[in-house]
Formats: sequence, C-alpha cells, structure tokens
Amino acid sequence: MSSQKPKVPVLAGLDLGSTTVKFIISTVSPDGKIEVSGIGRSPNTGVKQGVVVNIEATTEAIRKAKEEAELMAGVQVHDVWVGVAGPHIKSFDSKGMVAIKNNEVTSADIERVLEAAKAVAVPGDRRVLHVLPREYRVDSQDGITDPIGMSGVRLEANVHIVTAAQAALNNSVKCIEKAGLKVAGMVLDTLAASQAVLSEDEKNLGVCLVDMGGGCCNLLYLVNGSVAYTSVIPVGGTHFTHDVAVGLRTPQVAAEELKRKHGSALASMINESESIDVEGVGGRKSRTIPRKDLADVLEARAEETLNLIANDIRLSGLMPMLGSGIVLTGGASQLDGLVEMGEFVFDIPVRRGHPGKVGGLMDVVKGGESAVVVGLLLHAFNERKDKLLNYGNEIHIGESLDGIARKVKDFFGSMF
Ligand SMILES: Nc1ncnc2c1ncn2[C@@H]1O[C@H](COP(=O)(O)OP(=O)(O)OP(=O)(O)O)[C@@H](O)[C@H]1O
Ligand SMILES: [Mg+2]
Repeated sequence: MSSQKPKVPVLAGLDLGSTTVKFIISTVSPDGKIEVSGIGRSPNTGVKQGVVVNIEATTEAIRKAKEEAELMAGVQVHDVWVGVAGPHIKSFDSKGMVAIKNNEVTSADIERVLEAAKAVAVPGDRRVLHVLPREYRVDSQDGITDPIGMSGVRLEANVHIVTAAQAALNNSVKCIEKAGLKVAGMVLDTLAASQAVLSEDEKNLGVCLVDMGGGCCNLLYLVNGSVAYTSVIPVGGTHFTHDVAVGLRTPQVAAEELKRKHGSALASMINESESIDVEGVGGRKSRTIPRKDLADVLEARAEETLNLIANDIRLSGLMPMLGSGIVLTGGASQLDGLVEMGEFVFDIPVRRGHPGKVGGLMDVVKGGESAVVVGLLLHAFNERKDKLLNYGNEIHIGESLDGIARKVKDFFGSMF
C-alpha cells in the first residue's frame, strides 16, 4: 500500500534568474547520494539583475516552475533553498579572536570565533548571508584550515563576509511565500554554483568562477579553497540578444533563437559560404544573410564582456593566485566560441563549467544555466547532512505523493 512505502527526504532549490526561474527537486539516498528527480523552468520578466522588480510576475513564475518540477518528481515540496545574486551583494574580509576554552579547540570555539568575526558593523538595511572562513590561527601558528583538537590559548579567524540588501531579500521571500513555499535557506548564487561545477583541486589552486546569466555576470574568486572576493558585472545574455535584434533588424524572440542555434563568438571560425534566414520586423519579409554577420555582432559583445571580466580580475589583485584559471558557467556561457575567445583575452586557462556531482535526471540539468540550482541541492545537503542521513524517524522535508509519482512514471515510461 502506498502509505507503507518508506518516505525519502527531499530537497528543493530555487534560482530566481533574470530570464528564467528554475526549480529543482531531488531525493537523498541513505548513503547520501543526491538524485535529481524533477526540474521546472518558467520564463520571468519580474526579476532584473537578480532583484525582484515585479512581485506578481515572479510569484507566478515560481508557482509554474514549482508545479512543473513537482509533477516530474512526483512529490510536493514545502521548503526551498533559494539562490541570491545581483549588484546589491557586497563582500569583504573580517577577523575574529576568542580565548580557547580548556586549551583545546572545539566546534563551540569555532562557532564563537566566527560569531566574533561577524560582529562587525553591518548597516541595518543589509543582512549577512555568509561568514566564510579563509584561515584560522592558533596562538602564533597561521594557515590552519581545520583547528579542531589543536592546543592553544587564542583562536583567530580570517573570514570573508557576504552581505545582501535586506529589501531585496524581503521581496524575494514575499514572492516565494505567496507561491506557497517556506524559505529553508538563502545562498549566494555563485557559492552554490561553485559546489556543482568546480573540483576541489581547482578551488585549492585558485579559480575565478563566472556565472554568465541573462542580466549579469556574477563572479566568485576562490583562493586556497575558500572564497576571497565576489563581484558583479551588469552584462549578460540578454545584451547579446538585444545586439542581434538591433544589428540584424529582427524581433527579440527570433534574435534569441538565432543566437542559440547559429551564434558564435568567433566570426573567423565561420565559413563564408554559410547563410541563415532572418525574420523581418513589423511584417517585413525575412532575409537571407551570411551567418558570419551574426557572428560579427556577437563577437563584439563577447569581446567587450570578456574584457570587463578581465578588468575585474586585474582590479581584484588576485590574478597571480588563480592557478586553475577561469571557469565560465550560466546560460550565456554556452555561446559557441566563447571559451576559445577567453583563452586569448585572459591569457590563463579557461573552461566551461557544467553542473555535476549529483545523480538522477542529469540529462535535464547538464547545461550551465542549471549550475545554481544543482549547487543549491549540494549546499543544502552539506548544511543539513546530519538530519538528512538520520531521517529514519521523523525528518521528511518533502512528502511523497504516490498517486502523482505513478502518473509521472507512466509519462516517462512512454517517453523513453
Ligand atoms: N546556447 C546558448 N548560446 C548563447 N546564449 C545562451 C544559450 N543558451 C542560453 N543562453 C543565454 O543564457 C541566458 C540565460 O542564462 P541563465 O538561465 O543562466 O540566466 P538567469 O539565471 O535567468 O539570469 P541571471 O543569472 O542574470 O539572473 C539567456 O540570456 C540566454 O540567451
Ligand atoms: Mg542566474
């Protein structure tokens, strides 16, 4: 009988993207494996550069994405982990110091020292999202990553603090609650994405992760395995599409399709003989033009965007510490030729980052635009590991709706 089926813990993640709201659902197996079981996507005009500008539109987009994911997964979720991004994010270094109780560092001492580092003056209109440890020092010994069990009298922590505008967070929470959900936690978008696309080696060697979204590029710098700096560049895939629409005199929707299907950031890689059909605006007839013309438009914007990123890296002062180079992810990173152009512009290794480290329906979340939602699952799992792995008794973060589950199974059975 359905009621006797063991319930499995469920995790859900929500990315309020500027072009698309994404909702992901996964189960967690008893051995701690995260299996993606559903994804929903809904185009949204209510978010600009990571910030809600229209509550009604965003609520509706969340509802749609959630329903789509729930139907696919066959579960209903009530709590969701949410990604946060945008120009209102600020981050800075801070320090904390405490006396070690009983001369041996315990997790309670670590909690206290992080609390002390957090006790810096943060304006009332901002909220601390993360206190990310960079290194600890016990008495005069520095460079410690895990001080638990070490002997000493004084514990210091160097941390990186990420803050967000309270008003922006409130508006996101408002939309999520109106869509019938509770916020389980809020996570910096790029911090989540870093968990899905970067290897431990890359983080330790130093890397700059660039989430190229629709409205902006969010950057996260990791040095010695921890976050050292964050920044935002207000250019994204929408600007590329806009350029194509203006440059080739075609509607936005047609421009978006041309960019995805035939676009390239390197005009020199396009064969002169290739041509494409371009829809006209305002009822004008469609025209056939060389595919290279499309690449010329995209190349200019790609070069400018990558140069803005290169400039940000220079200004960060962290260039010498980026041994693993740059990883591009997010929907807009999928433009053909972008990585090749990056190799020229940055002069350090560049690769495209695809989400991984989870199982289940990987086919539907393998693109860069899913890096944040997949990362939210990994982040949520790490935060709630103890509870999730000991769910035998009472922890059910989502509820299995067996009726829906069966229907969806039939639906997929008929597809594959
Ligand atoms: N194959 C592709 N080639 C080029 N661009 C693409 C491709 N696929 C998606 N994009 C672009 O990626 C962008 C959407 O990416 P993503 O879903 O990561 O953004 P978002 O999360 O909605 O926005 P943001 O992170 O800025 O809030 C769109 O501008 C889209 O045009
Ligand atoms: Mg995004």
